[in-house]
This record gives sequence, structure tokens and C-alpha cells, in this order.
Amino acid sequence: MLILKDIDDDGWHIATSRTSRKGRELAANPKAALNFNWSLQGRQVRVAGRVVELSAEASAADWDARPAADGSRNPDWQLYAIQPLEIEFWQARHDRRHVRHRYGPGRENGLR
Ligand SMILES: Cc1cc2nc3c(=O)[nH]c(=O)nc-3n(C[C@H](O)[C@H](O)[C@H](O)COP(=O)(O)O)c2cc1C
Repeated sequence: MLILKDIDDDGWHIATSRTSRKGRELAANPKAALNFNWSLQGRQVRVAGRVVELSAEASAADWDARPAADGSRNPDWQLYAIQPLEIEFWQARHDRRHVRHRYGPGRENGLR
């Protein structure tokens, strides 16, 4: 579970330590999928794509913006942006005829 920090032209922002397991995994394979799930509503949004590292300045600003910021520095803290290649919207229905909209490569309305 991660906090979604922002969405802008760079992509969908998350932050973690480069030395964490997922930091090391992203360094080796810069791809990820984000899954937003609202179980009571039977709803899900899945975003998958390439991951890029944002600047050291942006990463430091994100570290400083934590609620209990104490002026400390964490050079390992890294802000990443997931650049979506595919987004899926999924809505469950009681009759099990679930609704699924997928946008991605190969579709008329594919994402960049
Ligand atoms: C509500 C919530 C928010 C979290 N937000 C983050 C986050 O923004 N960044 C982060 O690195 N870990 C966050 N965590 C912790 C991660 O879920 C995870 O346990 C941690 O990053 C270590 O994972 P790893 O060792 O597999 O990389 C959060 C956990 C919870 C419960």
C-alpha cells in the first residue's frame, strides 16, 4: 500500500526508498501496476506502465512534506512517476455481468 502523491504530465506519483525491496525491484525492472480497489462498491481502477524517477529536488520536497517532517534529509527517498500504458476500469454487478473498460495500446483510444 502506497500513497498516491500526485498525478500530472509526468505520470502518477509514488514515493519510496531506493534501498527498499520495491526500490531495488524498480531499479531492475522499471514497470509497475497501481491498483485502486473500492471493495464495498465492487470497483477497481488499474493503471500499468513504465516507471521513471523524478528529480532529486522533487524527491527532497516530497520527503519534507511528510506530516512529521523534522528537517531531516533522506538521500535514498525517491519520487517516481508511473506513466500509464494501460488503464482498466472495472465495476462489479450483482448479476455478474461485470463492466470492464480497458484503454491501452492497440485500441482506438490507446494511451501514449
Ligand atoms: C496507509 C499506508 C500508506 C503507505 N504509504 C507508503 C508510501 O507512500 N511509501 C512507501 O514506501 N511505503 C508506504 N507504506 C508501506 C508499504 O506498504 C510497504 O510496507 C513498505 O514500503 C515496504 O515495502 P518493500 O520492502 O516491499 O519495498 C504505506 C503503508 C500503509 C499501510
